[in-house]
Amino acid sequence: MALSHLFLTSVFFLLPSVTHVLAQQDGCSVDNQNPSVNENNPPAYVVATITLEQGFTISIDPSSPDASYFTIQGSQLQLTKSVDYEEDTLLLVYLLCTDTAGQSNSLQIIVTIVNVNDNSPVFKQTNFTQIVPEDTKVNATIISREDLSATDADLDTIYYELTTRVPDTDGYFAIKGVNNPEIYLQKALDYDKIKFTTLLLYARDRPVDSTDTTYTATATISISIEQADTKPPWFLPCTFINTDNNICISSPYTGRVNISEKSTTPLTLEPGPIYAIDPDYTLNEKIVYSIVGGDTDEVFSVDADTGNLTMNKAATSSDPFLLQVMASQVNNIQKYSVVSVEIKVINKSDYAPYFNSEIYRGTVSVGLAPGSFVLEADTPSKPLMITAADDDFTDKVNPNIEYLITNSTDFTASKDGLILTNVMLQSPGTVTMEALGKDTVSLQEARTVIVVEVVSATDDTSSDKRYTAQDMGALGGTLAALLLIALVLLGLMIYKQYGKPVNYLVRKKFSKSHPDDYQNQAYKEDEHPDVSAKQHETAENSSVQSMTSVLEQPSLPSPSSKSAETDGLPTASTASTVVFDQEEKEQEVEEESNQEKEVKSILKTDRHPADNGYKAVWFKTDVDPDAGDGVEVIEDNAAADDDEDSDQDLEKNEEEEQDYNEDSYHGRPEVSFAPESQLPPDVEVKINMSGTDAATEDVSELL
Ligand SMILES: *[C@@H]1O[C@H](CO)[C@@H](O)[C@H](O)[C@H]1NC(C)=O
Ligand SMILES: *[C@@H]1O[C@H](CO)[C@@H](O)[C@H](O)[C@H]1NC(C)=O
Ligand SMILES: *[C@@H]1O[C@H](CO)[C@@H](O)[C@H](O)[C@H]1NC(C)=O
Ligand SMILES: *[C@@H]1O[C@H](CO)[C@@H](O)[C@H](O)[C@H]1NC(C)=O
Ligand SMILES: *[C@@H]1O[C@H](CO)[C@@H](O)[C@H](O)[C@H]1NC(C)=O
Ligand SMILES: *[C@@H]1O[C@H](CO)[C@@H](O)[C@H](O)[C@H]1NC(C)=O
Repeated sequence: MALSHLFLTSVFFLLPSVTHVLAQQDGCSVDNQNPSVNENNPPAYVVATITLEQGFTISIDPSSPDASYFTIQGSQLQLTKSVDYEEDTLLLVYLLCTDTAGQSNSLQIIVTIVNVNDNSPVFKQTNFTQIVPEDTKVNATIISREDLSATDADLDTIYYELTTRVPDTDGYFAIKGVNNPEIYLQKALDYDKIKFTTLLLYARDRPVDSTDTTYTATATISISIEQADTKPPWFLPCTFINTDNNICISSPYTGRVNISEKSTTPLTLEPGPIYAIDPDYTLNEKIVYSIVGGDTDEVFSVDADTGNLTMNKAATSSDPFLLQVMASQVNNIQKYSVVSVEIKVINKSDYAPYFNSEIYRGTVSVGLAPGSFVLEADTPSKPLMITAADDDFTDKVNPNIEYLITNSTDFTASKDGLILTNVMLQSPGTVTMEALGKDTVSLQEARTVIVVEVVSATDDTSSDKRYTAQDMGALGGTLAALLLIALVLLGLMIYKQYGKPVNYLVRKKFSKSHPDDYQNQAYKEDEHPDVSAKQHETAENSSVQSMTSVLEQPSLPSPSSKSAETDGLPTASTASTVVFDQEEKEQEVEEESNQEKEVKSILKTDRHPADNGYKAVWFKTDVDPDAGDGVEVIEDNAAADDDEDSDQDLEKNEEEEQDYNEDSYHGRPEVSFAPESQLPPDVEVKINMSGTDAATEDVSELL
């Protein structure tokens, strides 16, 4: 039945002459001796219609090659079964035409089977599992064309399509072409983004947009990505610097050691111990640490395995160390990272700072602008100030302490420990918060609690009305008088400290412009929004408070201005500047012109009893006991010694002066005014300045 192609073809081409002859056969004929039949025909498919003349019969020659396929039903030549082109492309049958005499002739029918698309493409293998290393190169073949090609029994051209089923894994894998199913890597892999994907490879026997019947085969390809050793170690903590999150940069570690002291334990560093990881975490290669730079005198060593930083010897100078520490993979030293470790060398701090008070109480009104002072609850004229003492310092004042509020955002602490509002407080109530005083050098800290009573603003407005313009005028006048007195005191102190050079220096000071430091500072402080806001908000306390704050300002210079103060006359110039700023504007000019006169005249060393209207201050040792009227004599004890000292050694004076400044900075001498007072009787003047107490007392007696 299955004839070789060659044979069939030869038969096919030889037969026409024969069939032609047979077709001419009288008695029997068919309408078509070479019919075509689509494969997969239904049974009883009619191949040809037979016409018989009278007396003739027709039958299928049983010896014909494909006799079994055919049957004659009446006048129809039918196929007995479905034909498959993939098995038979031609069917050959002989029909025997017999007349009444028994003579028979052969009629040959050749049926051509027409191929139709009735087969699906077939993959050799429908499930593939592939492990792909993360560092596979782009364009590398993942699965070969040979493995992935599908076959189709219809011998159709196969059209391939690759899709992925796992979200966010598009674009990594692709096929070479629509007719070439080779899968290659289209985009570099990153294990952090793609660890696994499933690809579906479709094989179709018609183009994807064809309307013909299309058969499709599907192969499933499971791909697992295997992490490769692609990244160098990362020091932790680190922050990603790119959106792909595959580069992580750490900031330097910092630590501190005590000068001349060798720490026996590993150093504690910020933000944490030296620690690096292998970001290729499934491999997690071993990492070793080493110091590769900055270790002057080999003071430090790092533990290769743990990264712990230890000291070999004490640091002898206060210069900080900037170490370079490398973390590298044991299996590949080229996979490394370097981090800086800054080690500060600090003075040993034996004592932690502490607050003198476990609880500070303050008060503030609602509705004040942010940045307003919280006032002391007991003395509402004074801003609330918290202070941490440190026994490492002889005066207990550690200039490195900074203050902050840990658990309230409604309030802030200034560097000096003043408590300010951070928002406009809306409702009255009590706020309890924790404040921290932190030594920024030794990192030691102290904690305390601040209880702030937030009061409604109505109290202030009612008390406001009690003060008339005359009251305020009187207050202003008295304050002016007080300032005058303060000037006198300062002048006196200057005189005592500097003796004769003072006149020259004072003159020089006022004829020349003041050093920028002082002016800027006084100016800045004056412009401080807290103070001005305060003045607007609470007229009641405004002048008193601004007095207080301004008078306190000079006692709180920034340490940086100290050096500048050592040349010149810091106290005098600062005080003068402040005084001028404080005066009413119209008084300013007058004051300024008086200034020189006051300072000069009152400290004169030679007497002019004839000068009327002058009240001169004299030190007893300098004065003729037979002084005239209008001269008051001050008993001078310590001051006299100071005078002698001041003439002796200029350098020593400068040192003393610096001490004085430091003291006033640390000690925060205060000048405060009781707010509710009707002035002079209740005015309270406190000036605490170490080393000049004698002079202060003397002048107080005078007043
Ligand atoms: C191929 O994978 C599918 C789905 O994972 C599974 O159902 C099927 O049994 C697998 N066939 C073979 C031959 O592994
Ligand atoms: C990958 O092959 C394409 C086409 O041949 C080429 O354009 C591309 O540069 C190749 N990419 C790489 C990374 O080799
Ligand atoms: C420095 O000295 C302080 C106070 O004695 C001590 O607490 C600290 O641990 C020392 N620092 C180092 C690194 O040894
Ligand atoms: C020393 O190394 C160990 C192990 O890595 C670590 O747990 C410890 O915190 C380190 N100590 C210091 C002080 O860094
Ligand atoms: C450390 O102390 C010495 C003297 O005790 C002092 O001169 C030096 O300024 C101090 N250094 C620091 C950074 O405080
Ligand atoms: C802040 O901390 C202190 C002390 O721990 C606590 O008493 C207070 O209630 C806290 N305040 C706030 C607003 O959390």
